Amino acid sequence: MLIDTHAHLNDEKYADNYQDIISKLNENNIERIVCASFDVPSSISAQKIAAEFDTVYYSIGTHPHNAKDFSKDDLKFYKSQKGQKKLVAFGEIGLDYHYDFSPKDAQKSVFLYQLEAACEMGLPIIIHSREAYDDTLKILDDNIEYTKNGILVHCYTGTLDYAQEILKRGFFLSFGGAITYKNNHIAYEVLHNISLKNVVLETDCPYLTPVPYRGKVNEPKYINLVAQKIAEWKGVSVTEIEDITTKNAFRFFNRME
Ligand code: NI
Repeated sequence: MLIDTHAHLNDEKYADNYQDIISKLNENNIERIVCASFDVPSSISAQKIAAEFDTVYYSIGTHPHNAKDFSKDDLKFYKSQKGQKKLVAFGEIGLDYHYDFSPKDAQKSVFLYQLEAACEMGLPIIIHSREAYDDTLKILDDNIEYTKNGILVHCYTGTLDYAQEILKRGFFLSFGGAITYKNNHIAYEVLHNISLKNVVLETDCPYLTPVPYRGKVNEPKYINLVAQKIAEWKGVSVTEIEDITTKNAFRFFNRME
């Protein structure tokens, strides 16, 4: 079975049906979900959802889009979550220069505060990086001590060069529905050339719904289409992709049972 390492079931789009979605995970070939957060309220609701279901774990953190609203109280709240039973990662945190919803300086300092907090809490880190791989890698390289619990670059859509830079540091890459899109030759080049040793899968739902369901709200069950695409590109069975990515997910999220 598969693990969806990045699902925003704490998004308001699922307010009425997250329980239904989660109760059907097993029949959709999914054994665990990491409910990923993007600010304090979503972290609180992720924790609540994880407490309701054995199959759901969660992360806490402030997305770079929300960096401009980040406060010291937010940081205090995150640190107070240390040791929560189903908390398995800090994230998604990082830099997003595509939208620039928050000023770059704010994004960088909020990223750094949270890297430090994650390290202090003993948590691996889920990174969001869009059009910002140079700055992201520089910040990680300059603060290498904060990366020791693991780094996962989620929803990877960059080039082969950056993928190799990330993997050679021992970090992880996660792939989602974007690899099924028509204009996916870069993703093909990446996946064709890298080892799957540090690769995991995700949906990033409700975003990035895979082909042929684009236009619909994404759901964890569509992660099967991502596994199929990688199996096709790698010339291996879907079962093989399931086995390796699930094993990798348990290795990265080492507090997940
Ligand atoms: Ni996300």
